Amino acid sequence: MTFDLIIRNANLPDGRTGLDIAIKDGRIAAVEHGIHAEASRILDAGGYLVSPPFVDIHFHMDATLSLGLPRLNQSGTLLEGIALWGELKPFLTPEAVIERALRYCDLAVSQGLLAIRSHVDICDDRLLAVDALLEVKRRVAPYLDLQLVAFPQDGYYRSPGAVDNLRHALDKGVDVVGGIPHFERTMADGAASVRELCEIAADRGLQVDMHCDETDDPLSRHIESLAYETKRLGLQSRVAASHLTSMHSMDNYYVSKLLPLMAEAGVAAIANPLINIVIQGRHDTYPKRRGMTRIPEMRDQGIVCAFGHDCVMDPWYSLGSGDMLEVAHMAIHVGHMTSREAMRFCYDAVTINPARIMGLEGYGLEPGCNGDLVLLQAKDQIEAIRLKASRLAVVRRGQVIAETPARIVHLQLDGRPNKVDPATYAPIEI
Ligand code: FE2
Repeated sequence: MTFDLIIRNANLPDGRTGLDIAIKDGRIAAVEHGIHAEASRILDAGGYLVSPPFVDIHFHMDATLSLGLPRLNQSGTLLEGIALWGELKPFLTPEAVIERALRYCDLAVSQGLLAIRSHVDICDDRLLAVDALLEVKRRVAPYLDLQLVAFPQDGYYRSPGAVDNLRHALDKGVDVVGGIPHFERTMADGAASVRELCEIAADRGLQVDMHCDETDDPLSRHIESLAYETKRLGLQSRVAASHLTSMHSMDNYYVSKLLPLMAEAGVAAIANPLINIVIQGRHDTYPKRRGMTRIPEMRDQGIVCAFGHDCVMDPWYSLGSGDMLEVAHMAIHVGHMTSREAMRFCYDAVTINPARIMGLEGYGLEPGCNGDLVLLQAKDQIEAIRLKASRLAVVRRGQVIAETPARIVHLQLDGRPNKVDPATYAPIEI
């Protein structure tokens, strides 16, 4: 048999080493030691890590790469970012949104990021961004799974037209129901929005992913309502709560009651460490809160946790490069997750855990899974995060769709080897 692709001598995230992976007709056909067969292309992994693709569970593709339009965020706060986005919205064109989104998707693919859940703002009566991102979703489908969330950025009740717009966006094919209860006018409105939005999801058989309690206010407790509604409506395993930054500041006793409720309801938690650490704590003097939600404690409760990039060069965040290893790296630091086990968990939070939340079919490295994977210039997950390792090859359905040369450091030091491995600084034989 001739395979489409064979990758030789790969390390896998589960700790197995020296394995060959064969792909045929877009699917993984075998993962074994010593596959001796013909293939259209053979890659030597050289003992480096082969991983399932990165997955970004929380992004804003309608705003990405718009940095500086029409001006920069001076305060660095969430609220100025929302106001700035509101200034830009009337001037958006479908062509510009599509062009920026496609450029971002190219960047994402080059980083081995082959699935993205993006929120799309529905608080524009034209639904321009919705149409634009649905078009992007169609165009990138051969190489990237894009899932869209109907997101009422300016408030489901607070923004005139958002109630109707959200339904129209879902009618057009947007996949997931979003929300922003902490931005409604009152706590009561926020709780009511959670109830109504979950009911819409239940009626339509959809998933829910809400921006929930993205604030330093420890009394912002919409996650409690979200867990309650999830259970009441039988939405277990179909609901995710994004950000949850208020939990960083909550009373410990209250959290000890809240987390079992979330676990019981099967609500997944999504943190966005790069954004949480720069957006939250802006009203503090010292000590300044870090904002990221309580990931280690939720993990211990068996709550499914994942990390999103959230923003790249937009009204909320000036940096970012589509690199989910950078996201995991920040999470390790902000969450004090430095044990070997915790660092591997942070890798799972940008790969298998978000894939599970998105419901991606055929995700993984077992025979029968999609032939989608990334070859990294690192021996294991921890080294990959430490180095933000080069993506030597990105494979989609058995085809190599992006390649980056291995990084080799050339030193010009007297009496020392002049080529070294960037992971260990050990000499490389020429
Ligand atoms: Fe967000």
